[in-house]
Amino acid sequence: MEKQTPLLKAVNEYIKRDAARFHMPGHKGFLMHREPDRFSEAYRYDITEVQGADSLYEAHGAIRETEEAFARIYGAKRTLLSAGGATLCIQTMLALVAKEGGKVIAGRNLHTSAVSAMALLGLSPIWVYPDQSAGCGMGGRLSPEDIRAQLQNNTDVCAVYITTPDYFGILSDVEGIAKICRAYRVPLLVDNSHGSHLKFRKPSLHPIDLGADLCCDSLHKTMPVLTGGALLHIANERYIPAAKQRMSLFGSTSPSYLIMLSCDRCIGYIEKGEVQAEFDAVCARIRALEQMAENKGFVLLEAKAGTRDYTKLVLSVYNWGISGAEFGERLRLWGIEPEYVSDVWAVLMASPENLGGDYRRVEKFLNAWDLPSVQDAAPAQEVPRLQPAMTLRSAVFAPSEMVPVENSIGRIASAMVCPCPPGIPVVMPGEKIDQDAVKLLKTCGICCIKVVL
Ligand SMILES: Cc1ncc(COP(=O)(O)O)c(C=O)c1O
Repeated sequence: MEKQTPLLKAVNEYIKRDAARFHMPGHKGFLMHREPDRFSEAYRYDITEVQGADSLYEAHGAIRETEEAFARIYGAKRTLLSAGGATLCIQTMLALVAKEGGKVIAGRNLHTSAVSAMALLGLSPIWVYPDQSAGCGMGGRLSPEDIRAQLQNNTDVCAVYITTPDYFGILSDVEGIAKICRAYRVPLLVDNSHGSHLKFRKPSLHPIDLGADLCCDSLHKTMPVLTGGALLHIANERYIPAAKQRMSLFGSTSPSYLIMLSCDRCIGYIEKGEVQAEFDAVCARIRALEQMAENKGFVLLEAKAGTRDYTKLVLSVYNWGISGAEFGERLRLWGIEPEYVSDVWAVLMASPENLGGDYRRVEKFLNAWDLPSVQDAAPAQEVPRLQPAMTLRSAVFAPSEMVPVENSIGRIASAMVCPCPPGIPVVMPGEKIDQDAVKLLKTCGICCIKVVL
């Protein structure tokens, strides 16, 4: 018999009661007039805050037990469940440190969700640019010394906010950055969306083990969890009392029980004690594929003097004389759907749920690769270092108009311009657009941009 994790137990008890469901949601536990269908079972579990099923923002029953189990697993003082993805956790983290008109030292490789949250909270970022000798795209590694320099120059910041791993799996030195933040008595917030599984590396590479004050895990990205399932971990007790209230400022009042249940089920998966071995096996398979790819002339992601998450296979696209769209079609011919393909790089994300046959398809794809390499160096994709002319918040809420990118030089951006994935904005709201930015925007296939009137 499989272990009944806390929330599953509560919902199963509710299903057993066979109650007439005079509550939300409208499907009443069935898919379309009770006709059997492969999704029907899922509908039965999609309930609302009925008696015994607890309530996310006032959790004191089954949901609280699930959260406590995650806090024990991840070594956090408190962990909050999110059915609104890491986005909701990022909003919560920033709302916990926000002061009116406050500043945040932030790695420029951050996700669009963090920028939106800063705009809503009236926070102004002070950028630290990643070192792109490691990594690719607009990602890269953040250096502790660059963060120290900004802390020295800005004595009034609310927090340091970093994203690691980046979208391509490059890891920054969280331990080194955390030590510096502690010395300056500034909280460290980590967007670990792509790294829930890093807890299960030996030694752990999870930000909570490396000294972060607050950290979010987008469980659904790498663990067997439904889209939208995420965790907010709190290591610094001072943030516990307000955490639920801050989350409720942004979250839906109807968090999905299916999503929360799938997080709850993940506890059972973790407690089986095989996660480390399973992820070690994934990393070994990806490294073997990388070796094959390198032998075929693919250029691999450079981790340079630091660590990388080896659950992602990053392949060069730029050196074959074909577009990203053509590269994607070649992958699909072998029955492979990638996470991301651009004209420059492709990313394949693996987890223990990928079975041997999946890897064999990638082997066949690589074995059949017959194009000659025609280019040596990857095109530069460094984010332009633009001057802010307005705050994020004023730019986002200012009257605006859409203009063709080539007519935007000298104008102030009103919205993020962001190829997604990887979701790292090329231009930030409030920044004055220059020639380099226009060039990069065009490379990213962006033709129009919203600017302040
Ligand atoms: C680095 C990073 N942070 C945050 C997010 C948002 O995560 P979610 O989709 O779980 O809200 C993403 C999504 O892709 C991401 O790549």
